[in-house]
Amino acid sequence: MCGIVGAVAQRDVIEILLEGLRRLEYRGYDSAGVAVLGSDKQLQRVRCLGKVKILADAVARDPLQGSTGIAHTRWATHGQPSERNAHPHVSNDRIAVVHNGIIENHAKLRSTLQEQGFVFTSETDTEVIAHLVERELNSTNNLLEAVQKAVSQLHGAYGMVILDKQDPERLLLARSGSPMVIGLGIGENFVASDPLALLPVTRRFIYLEEGDVAEITRRDVNIFSSDGIPVTRDIRETSATYDAGDKGPYRHFMLKEIFEQPLAVSNTLEGRLNEAGVLDETFGNGAAELLKKIEHVQIIACGTSYHSGLVARYWMEALAGVSCNVEIASEFRYRKSVVRPNSLLVTISQSGETADTLAALRLGKTLGYVTSLAICNVAGSSLVRESDLAFMTRAGTEIGVASTKAFTTQLVGLAMLVLALGKSRELGVERQRELAAALKSLPGMLEETLKLAPVIETLAVDFAEKQHALFLGRGEEYPIAMEGALKLKEISYIHAEAYAAGELKHGPLALIDADMPIIVVAPNNDLLEKLASNIEEVRARGGMLYVFADQTAHFETSADMKVINLPHCHEWLTPIIYTLPLQLLSYYVAVIRGTDVDQPRNLAKSVTVE
Ligand code: F6R
Repeated sequence: MCGIVGAVAQRDVIEILLEGLRRLEYRGYDSAGVAVLGSDKQLQRVRCLGKVKILADAVARDPLQGSTGIAHTRWATHGQPSERNAHPHVSNDRIAVVHNGIIENHAKLRSTLQEQGFVFTSETDTEVIAHLVERELNSTNNLLEAVQKAVSQLHGAYGMVILDKQDPERLLLARSGSPMVIGLGIGENFVASDPLALLPVTRRFIYLEEGDVAEITRRDVNIFSSDGIPVTRDIRETSATYDAGDKGPYRHFMLKEIFEQPLAVSNTLEGRLNEAGVLDETFGNGAAELLKKIEHVQIIACGTSYHSGLVARYWMEALAGVSCNVEIASEFRYRKSVVRPNSLLVTISQSGETADTLAALRLGKTLGYVTSLAICNVAGSSLVRESDLAFMTRAGTEIGVASTKAFTTQLVGLAMLVLALGKSRELGVERQRELAAALKSLPGMLEETLKLAPVIETLAVDFAEKQHALFLGRGEEYPIAMEGALKLKEISYIHAEAYAAGELKHGPLALIDADMPIIVVAPNNDLLEKLASNIEEVRARGGMLYVFADQTAHFETSADMKVINLPHCHEWLTPIIYTLPLQLLSYYVAVIRGTDVDQPRNLAKSVTVE
């Protein structure tokens, strides 16, 4: 989703801005733009439809130079993707603005500003910000005050940076619902919507808080809370590395990230587990005591992260004996819910910036949960900062828009939460030991499973021409079927649905014919017999089956059923293990169909708007 970079320096910042945009490319966008103030104090702007490469080529053809500048990658919300809708937007060749988020009252503001003589050149909500700031500047002649007055009139979400041609060594920024960080340099300062964009120039960051407005110059940073009071925000050093430039031997980041899963899982387990179970401090200081009180868990997330929550629900109730609800964040945030006594609120998010999940957390914190826990992959993200407790998945930066290693490491985090909750409940000492040992064996099992890649690559050919696919699973494999279907649709654009296999006869069976591939997730557990009956129901109707099965289940490949045997593993771990072949299947199908695997159409990595 949209990305922002800005800089105030003594040197030419154009390459810093373009490199920052390249580093945000993985988030998904449709157009890009940059504006700088040159030594002649003139505002120079270049925008284009399409990739940052096109923008960089345009800049190379017609070079820009400037020591203060802002840049943006846009993911269209208001107005189609086009050059004229790309940011930065300007007002009267004086004010330039880049903005992430959505201004909900833009239509009303636009018509007032038009009545006052401001001329709009785009269909975006962002352009109102540029004109608003200029209008306020005309009466206050102070950029900070003008921005404070402007943002007080905005409803909605924003992270924004504003540049004024007449105040060339200053950038103004504001945050409400969309992240913004200041990167501290020596004699120069930077801003971005994601620190990743600034790692080549700094490792020291200040995260703006909700409602903050800030001004930066080369030497100073001044931050004001929403009521205009000067505030100090902590400086954080990051040890994050940016490895996006390096796909290694892999053709796509998604494939690289699929193969990184044994390491990502091993890193996520590191130092958190011993033979007896989960270590007390795994979920933060004092968390172990708090978890003893918990009688109910409410999980909230979106997309793939929601699927990991669905798996956890099976685990929590079956193993720890703790009741658990899982809800999509965009539903939870807009309904009245009943909070059971002694409930824990768990949010799950790779990015920690998903607008709906953040809003759900903020709502949840007002509802009387005992405490809130974020399971997240990005340290310093809004979700982590705003939650009482955090469990960091250590998947490393995930660049592919389709989430892979973040999902499996979330499952590992949730598995550990189940062990921690189970300690004072139904999980006896022996069972704790058994499950801890199973978790420890996971990286090796994942390595083993990845050896199936060539088999799955061959299988993918069968799907290349298909329009639809059905995924089936039972128990905790049902969410894995859902995740398999989501992966296939998002990167190969094949319509895919997942059903709990027992639901087949209640409707979807009508879809079965020779053109409908049916993918079945079939570990060797106590539901296998039931699942085998569902497989027969499909067979009897001429469907073509692809069964991902435990090698000990002895399914046989035949004319209407291809069996992919997975290594036998502990029953508890099957959702994690069976995810991998489904990720590989989607990947290879997408490659055959020639889609943009790492940046599928219409999607964004971090969904910072509703
Ligand atoms: C799908 C995918 C999305 C995300 C969803 C939530 O592959 O990546 O469905 O899972 O947008 O994002 P996070 O986890 O960052 O909150």
